[in-house]
Amino acid sequence: MNVLGIETSCDETSAAVVSNGKDILSNITVSSLNLHKKYNGIIPEIAFRRQLETITQVTEEAIRKSRIKIKALDLISVTANPGLLGSLLVGLTFAKAVSLSYNIRCIEVDHLYAHIYSALLGQKKPVFPFIALVISGGHTSLFKIDSFEKFNLIGSTLDDACGEAFDKVSKILGLGYPGGPIVERMARYGKPSIRFNCCDTNKKFDFSFSGIKTAVLYYVNNLRSKQSGNLSKTQIYDICASFQKSVAEALIKKSFLACSEKRSKLLIVAGGVAANTFLRESFLKYFLDKDIKVIFPSKTLCMDNAAMVAGIGYHLFKKAEVKTC
Ligand code: KG4
Ligand code: ZN
Repeated sequence: MNVLGIETSCDETSAAVVSNGKDILSNITVSSLNLHKKYNGIIPEIAFRRQLETITQVTEEAIRKSRIKIKALDLISVTANPGLLGSLLVGLTFAKAVSLSYNIRCIEVDHLYAHIYSALLGQKKPVFPFIALVISGGHTSLFKIDSFEKFNLIGSTLDDACGEAFDKVSKILGLGYPGGPIVERMARYGKPSIRFNCCDTNKKFDFSFSGIKTAVLYYVNNLRSKQSGNLSKTQIYDICASFQKSVAEALIKKSFLACSEKRSKLLIVAGGVAANTFLRESFLKYFLDKDIKVIFPSKTLCMDNAAMVAGIGYHLFKKAEVKTC
């Protein structure tokens, strides 16, 4: 079964063709990220205008590259939520138009479920139930997954998302946007010698990142006023390393707790922040002797992409328990 995936929930325009929920025949993504950098965040108006301009070309390119004729497509799977309203509408409207024009069935899928599925592309069917952690610019969510149709949210962030915290720390340090990859790069040269802690939460599987971001802000302001000037490179490196380590520890702690309590032998870590090498290595090291397998998507599939949307769409469609558009 050949599925055309369409993803436009944030700043990317992406289309992909995936066969049987496993084999990626094509996966084309263009991003408007460069247009947002000077604003230190995504501007919804700019994102959806760019998506309107690019969606036809990106989809044509994905179909051409897959070598599957458009009439041989069995299904269109499109991200319906969560995301930026205007951006989602571009993908949904486009998918519906293609569906009607070529008489191809179309289903709507959840962006976070698609992120989780990105770790399973090209893999054997997982053993259910398992735990999944989605860490992105907009979400930090823990799920217990009983089947491809049953995703139970067991915890989420009470304030900033994990990627958002990276972005804000980068902004505090004047390093640029998106902050995650920059903070990771700086952290490589630093020592995690400063104590920044992620706050505790009342519910055991929830997260909170706004406290640690504020702790970094106070620390930086204090240094700046003491030195009456800019921070040294070493200070920036150490702040990034300390912040990153503390975030990794909080994510690992809650994920392990969820796996232990829900008796899961598998943990999936997905979303943009899961591209972070330090984080990936920290998870793998911690879980090495815990009899729990940890898997991540490849680094390119951590970012928003349509292959993951096509992949989860295939499974949901087979169960026919989804809204068709
Ligand atoms: O999943 P994603 O591409 O888009 C959303 O659905 O939000 O995630 C984007 C987020 C941004 O906040 C970005 O700073 C963060 O993922 N990110 C990273 C890294 N690469 C991207 N965070 C930490 N380390 C990275 N290497
Ligand atoms: Zn995403």
